[in-house]
Amino acid sequence: MTKPIEGFSKLTKNQKIDWLTTHYTANPEAAKILLKRYWNVNEDVQKLHDEFIENTITNYYLPFGIAPNFLINDKLYAIPMAIEESSVVAAASKAAKFWLDKGGFKTEVLGTEKIGQVHFMYHGSKEHLMSFFEQVHSKLLSDASSITKNMEKRGGGINNIKLRDKTDALDNYYQLHCTFETLDAMGANFINSCLEQFAKTFKAEAQSFSIFTEEEKTIEIVMSILSNYVPNCLVRAEVSCPVTELKNGNTETSQQFAEKMVQAVNIAQVEPHRAVTHNKGIMNGIDAVVLATGNDFRAIEAGIHAYAAKDGQYTSLTHATIENGIFRFWIELPMALGTIGGLTSLHPLVKLAMELLGKPSAKELMQIVAVAGLAQNFAAVRSLVTTGIQEGHMKMHLLNILNQLGATDEEKKILTHHFKKHPATHNAVVEAFEKLRNTK
Ligand code: MEV
Repeated sequence: MTKPIEGFSKLTKNQKIDWLTTHYTANPEAAKILLKRYWNVNEDVQKLHDEFIENTITNYYLPFGIAPNFLINDKLYAIPMAIEESSVVAAASKAAKFWLDKGGFKTEVLGTEKIGQVHFMYHGSKEHLMSFFEQVHSKLLSDASSITKNMEKRGGGINNIKLRDKTDALDNYYQLHCTFETLDAMGANFINSCLEQFAKTFKAEAQSFSIFTEEEKTIEIVMSILSNYVPNCLVRAEVSCPVTELKNGNTETSQQFAEKMVQAVNIAQVEPHRAVTHNKGIMNGIDAVVLATGNDFRAIEAGIHAYAAKDGQYTSLTHATIENGIFRFWIELPMALGTIGGLTSLHPLVKLAMELLGKPSAKELMQIVAVAGLAQNFAAVRSLVTTGIQEGHMKMHLLNILNQLGATDEEKKILTHHFKKHPATHNAVVEAFEKLRNTK
């Protein structure tokens, strides 16, 4: 059995690879070649990636694709997407094109408030704590002024600090619930630094608050951290058109198609099993743009899913109606994004993604990302209520299967052509491939 290793992080990259491949792979030499094949040829770029995290041994590629023709508030965007799932960029592009001659996407940022909390335990009189909070409030702000100075110059900063009594939920539990405006920064470092300073001031000042008993003075700070649930950092994106314009190249009428779309969205609104998959499709679009633009997709995912459950049941993030002959399809969701700081100024491809999008502000990026989610959902639900999802999926997945089978470029060309007219199930692809090989 392999023994635990001491000081792995202190080894050089090559030493780490040697140790790893020797202990955990059947063919260390082959594994080493593979790992090194993914190193960037430019040493500076590689060093940059090495230093993003600890114990980097190589890079993990994802395709970086473009979905063009997105008309958003009358401006045309080519949206960069980083994603491995074969049909996502194609679906987004298709939806963009569908809405291009119907007025495109209309979006609006409904709020930009970020949130952070200092969680603490306090044993004693609630009135005493309230008085203390009122007294210490201005000092909380002034002690954080060296952190907030630059943000305030740009028009952001701390919006509000509130004392919240959470003792109904957990004995002795209170919090400082704080709201912030962080402009084009995602704001995690800014918020966490402010919170940690609040916690320090809060604890220290409690020691000399005259009304407090000795027990009350010992406020116990548990943790200070931003919240990824930002229900007031909200964006809305919408498409609409007369139902008669919803031609679908299918046998159904526009009215039937529109009604089915609304039914499908309504199902996702009342049925959590469907809502999760429905929203997963939305996240296909959202995560891909969030990742391409160097933002934290885990934070975005967590916040959005919490929002989808905000009324006590997990539900659809999109909505659809037909009123007075107009089909309307929209999304509303929270999103704390940054266009400065973090990876945005470091990762060369992220910088390029930002350039492709016209160096957007955080607010503009929120709108672009929301559109990518809405477009993805439109494309998925449209397929689901018409052809079924497998037709498009398998067409896009075809190349993956052919690559797994080791097809040559010539074979890929022949078989791609063949499957334009035949259902591309996994078995059918394997059979057609074998037949083609055997007839040679
Ligand atoms: C697959 O990645 C996403 C879909 O399942 C979304 C949906 O069902 O709406 C197609």
